[in-house]
Amino acid sequence: MRIIFIGPPGAGKGTQAARIVERYGIPHISTGDMLRAAVKAGTELGNTAKRYMNEGKLVPDDVIIGLVRERIAQGDASEGFLLDGFPRTIPQAEALGMALRADDVELDAVLLLEVPDALIVERITGRRQDPETGEIYHIRFNPPPDDIADRVVQRDDDTVEAVKQRLEAYHRQTAPLVPFYQDRDLLIRVDGVGTPDEVTERIVEELEAL
Ligand code: AP5
Repeated sequence: MRIIFIGPPGAGKGTQAARIVERYGIPHISTGDMLRAAVKAGTELGNTAKRYMNEGKLVPDDVIIGLVRERIAQGDASEGFLLDGFPRTIPQAEALGMALRADDVELDAVLLLEVPDALIVERITGRRQDPETGEIYHIRFNPPPDDIADRVVQRDDDTVEAVKQRLEAYHRQTAPLVPFYQDRDLLIRVDGVGTPDEVTERIVEELEAL
């Protein structure tokens, strides 16, 4: 199964991706996670990406396309993958299409997680992550257990200012992917409002119907 999750920042892509990859046994390829790992490691890529990420801007296409091409060429992605946060622009989607065609494989679906902007700021500013396990929490909707409550951290780009910029980047640069994948009969809209379990159920129902 080769699927993509798109949606605004904080829509729940990472939360849902973790559940779906476990269910279907496919690798979770998150460009956000890959970039954060590069920032943490202090690599050249990480240093370039950090500035864009903290300002809520997209990292340039050429940087990110090379990164994803390398990742999907790895053995564990040969039978399928879940791409989370990529593509985010039309040039990224076109580059992905070319890479898949070169391998003679096709996408199965692009799931759009829909959450209104009004809910996004609260979801993002309340997010916390366990640096040891990568588990995502929310101070109100999914609080971390007491024994790890003092080690969870907030992402540098989860500020109100950066969220506004990220939402603007989403509407301007990523939303055009909706008609792009609709025209290719790949787009599936999923209501991202509700409990995480309810959203997972909706996604699984769509995937089972493929
Ligand atoms: P990335 O990490 O991809 O960030 P994003 O798209 O902004 O998405 P988020 O990770 O913020 O949110 P999410 O949808 O995964 O939500 P989550 O499940 O965590 O990218 C970060 C940056 O990297 C970008 O801004 C850009 O600079 C760069 N970048 C990455 N990919 C790129 C690309 N392809 N091209 C260029 N640049 C790129 O949930 C959010 C919160 O809500 C959590 O606290 C969670 O517990 C809570 N929550 C989840 N579901 C629910 C629910 N149903 N109800 C209530 N709360 C919920």
